[in-house]
Amino acid sequence: MAQKVLILNGPNLNLLGEREPNLYGDQTLDDIGAICQDVAQKLALELDFRQSNVEGELVSWIQQSRDTASGIVINAAAYTHTSVALLDALLACDIPVIEVHLTNIYQREEFRHNSYVSRAATGVICGFGAHGYVLALDAMAQILAKNS
Ligand code: DQA
Repeated sequence: MAQKVLILNGPNLNLLGEREPNLYGDQTLDDIGAICQDVAQKLALELDFRQSNVEGELVSWIQQSRDTASGIVINAAAYTHTSVALLDALLACDIPVIEVHLTNIYQREEFRHNSYVSRAATGVICGFGAHGYVLALDAMAQILAKNS
């Protein structure tokens, strides 16, 4: 049976395509979701692609993934830099986590240089725009193949 990967997107990523396109590009989150579905199929992974603006909802989805997913790819957006709750939920999961950002957060304002999510992540991919999600899925497929 295909292993399932949960891709979680945090606040304001529902506005991709309209939101600061100079930074985040002109692809919508639906466009990125479609690319990810395609890549996941090629990698023989099952994909669950979600977005929420609500911190608690993201926490609940991470908790649920303990029983339902083999790995998590997460762009926690602004919660990356603020949320101990997301970090604790990720630490409670015994599955690999890959952190993604469209932009290079280390090239931006100083408050974006700290990531709570990184403390729970096997690796971080940032600065490659939407292609970062493809890179993350590829890395996740390798990790899962190695672990199984
Ligand atoms: C982001 C970077 C965050 O700092 C920001 O709050 C976002 C998007 C990115 O994908 O580059 O909303 O996670």
